[in-house]
Amino acid sequence: MTSSLRISIPRPIDAHLHLRDGRSLSSTVAASARQFGRAVVMPNLLPPVVRCSEALAYRDRILAACPPDLSFQPMMTLYLSENTRIEDIDQACAEPDIYAVKLYPAGATTHSEAGVGHIDRVMPVLERMAERGLPLLIHGEVTDPDIDIFDREAVFIERTLIPLRRRLPELPIVLEHITTREAVDYVQAQNGRFAATLTAHHLLHDRNDMLVGGMRPHFFCLPILKRREHRQALLAAATSGDPRFFLGTDSAPHAQHAKESACACAGCYTAPVALELYAEAFASCAALDRLADFASRHAAHFYGVPVDTQEITLSAQTWTQAERLPYLDGHIIPFRAGSELQWRLEDAV
Ligand code: NCD
Ligand code: ZN
Repeated sequence: MTSSLRISIPRPIDAHLHLRDGRSLSSTVAASARQFGRAVVMPNLLPPVVRCSEALAYRDRILAACPPDLSFQPMMTLYLSENTRIEDIDQACAEPDIYAVKLYPAGATTHSEAGVGHIDRVMPVLERMAERGLPLLIHGEVTDPDIDIFDREAVFIERTLIPLRRRLPELPIVLEHITTREAVDYVQAQNGRFAATLTAHHLLHDRNDMLVGGMRPHFFCLPILKRREHRQALLAAATSGDPRFFLGTDSAPHAQHAKESACACAGCYTAPVALELYAEAFASCAALDRLADFASRHAAHFYGVPVDTQEITLSAQTWTQAERLPYLDGHIIPFRAGSELQWRLEDAV
């Protein structure tokens, strides 16, 4: 339902979310459960979530942290390490709460040290995933120090993804948090079970927002924000209605002191206002009528889960987001802290 002032959509799926662990969960789970009915939960904890038993124990901790008045289904993932065994894949396929395996090139991003050095080393595991139809979620950036940080996604597609697709065309893949025109073009050329997630911050911002007039660490994430023409390609893809593109916030909480540092951590904490940000992006293209497909239906179709029967409602109203939120023993700065937003998620009644 869309009117000039309100839009209601099925409770969406966040297809790429970092919740962290331990005492962080009381803040992060509540923020996401207010916005989303389900989320694909990233496994880059310390130590990483490699085995099924670890993923299921993590799921229990997430559910225990969920406020009792909110329903939230964590869709768990395994972290692909060079120690992942074929039996881990078989166990994951037998486990209804585990939906995918995440590939981090070693050294590409936060907590990726235990990731994959060279893809050849995990080929037997990927072959089993292709046979079993278990999706591989990919952080698509090379780690070659000779490649400029702004080119790392495009080079990953050339060097790693194209050869992988040739070798294993049946492997279901989600190319996560895409940031470039090259990635959009590549995804649009794929057939079969192949998709990409798009973050709100990459739909709304480019590298000027991070670097002009001062260096703003709360805009720093990986893959890094690119030039404006890439943002425009992402917006066009998100609002096109193409089912291969769906919502994944990549909301990645780091405490204020870790972001406001001489060596700032990568990650934007968008979860508290995620749908407000996506609504702003879609409204900027007069495409609010496509938000429900992008946010609530395409990922459900890809992962084979039902579209949520409950709805959330966003209304057009200007409001100012908090400057900071309590987090662990200090604070966290949510994305767009203290700034005006044009949409507001109404609380469920
Ligand atoms: C993520 C994190 O902090 O876990 N950071 C980020 O900049 N997106 C990891 C990731 O998804 O790259
Ligand atoms: Zn991520």
